[in-house]
Amino acid sequence: MKYNIALLKGDGIGPEIVDSAVRVLTALGEKFGHEFNFTPYDIGGVAIDKHGEPLPKATVEGCLNSDSVLLGAVGGPKWDTLPGNMRPEKALLGIREAMGLFTNLRPAKLYSALKDDCPLRSDIVENGFDIMIVRELTGGIYFGERGMREGKYGEEAYDTECYSRMEIERIARVAFETAKKRRCNLISIDKANVLESSRLWRKVVHEIAAEYPEVSCSDMLVDNAAMQLVRNPAQFDVIVTSNMFGDILSDEASQITGSIGMLPSASLGETSRGLYEPIHGSAPDIAGKGLANPIATILSAAMMLLYSFGLSAESDCIVSAVDKVLSCGYRTADIAHGGESLSTDAITDKIIENI
Ligand code: IPM
Ligand code: MG
Repeated sequence: MKYNIALLKGDGIGPEIVDSAVRVLTALGEKFGHEFNFTPYDIGGVAIDKHGEPLPKATVEGCLNSDSVLLGAVGGPKWDTLPGNMRPEKALLGIREAMGLFTNLRPAKLYSALKDDCPLRSDIVENGFDIMIVRELTGGIYFGERGMREGKYGEEAYDTECYSRMEIERIARVAFETAKKRRCNLISIDKANVLESSRLWRKVVHEIAAEYPEVSCSDMLVDNAAMQLVRNPAQFDVIVTSNMFGDILSDEASQITGSIGMLPSASLGETSRGLYEPIHGSAPDIAGKGLANPIATILSAAMMLLYSFGLSAESDCIVSAVDKVLSCGYRTADIAHGGESLSTDAITDKIIENI
């Protein structure tokens, strides 16, 4: 089969890690007889520098005409002082919205080879953990009404959290379907003791739960969830939550796996076309030095094979190659603890050897 993949390399370490994933996909294509065609488009800071805007129209069109999209990372100190709607991050929100990607899947699992990297006490993670965060991605406070105004105390700024029944229903269905394919346990995270939007969230999730009697579903308040993630991460199977709570909790979940450099993500909508990206940022401090860990991006490519193209054997092949390389003791600097480490390219070569 032939697949056209749009590449949004972005800023900082983005180009290096996307190049690694492209090399892995190409090797995999040779092995399984698939043709992956790659077309790069500018996004983020690099697009601001070249075209005067973070998300050029050509980039949006290129993504909408592709079979799927692989993204590196956007942003860096150079563009940090630009106004909100000109920041590189705005491009990320823009492309998610333009592609209708309302679901963000963020798996966080503890690799047995990396157990010692976990900052939690060993008795807490004795049996590992394997969590799938289903984050709503095109609603809530990220996209709500915002602005500046004169208030009681003078100048004030506001952002609003708003969720419609429709938005909650569709993300809840994705979460229940996801749970059904895993351990049938769903925890919906909200702040229903304070927020009206969370009370509607909870009500709608309970309604959808009635359609999935095989899935056990419970609610958890977000502050408690932040605490439970470090107290007993193994209690979580699938988490469903709003855009902002998902943003925060997924960073927390990533850190307890040992390194944020390991975690992939998939953003999905109504079609098979998705956007796949590591959950870490552009790490401008190490850009161009060959120090970046490409594994999160390579695993994001594996998620693309599975969720966009339905190529589960090919996807598994990447995941086991990564497992193998880690259990052989190969590490990039972020997970080497001062021990011997491989460059971005060298660890990519090791993964390709195991394809
Ligand atoms: C993420 C990032 C983005 C988000 C930023 C860069 C806009 O933190 O993908 O988690 O908040 O969604
Ligand atoms: Mg984030």
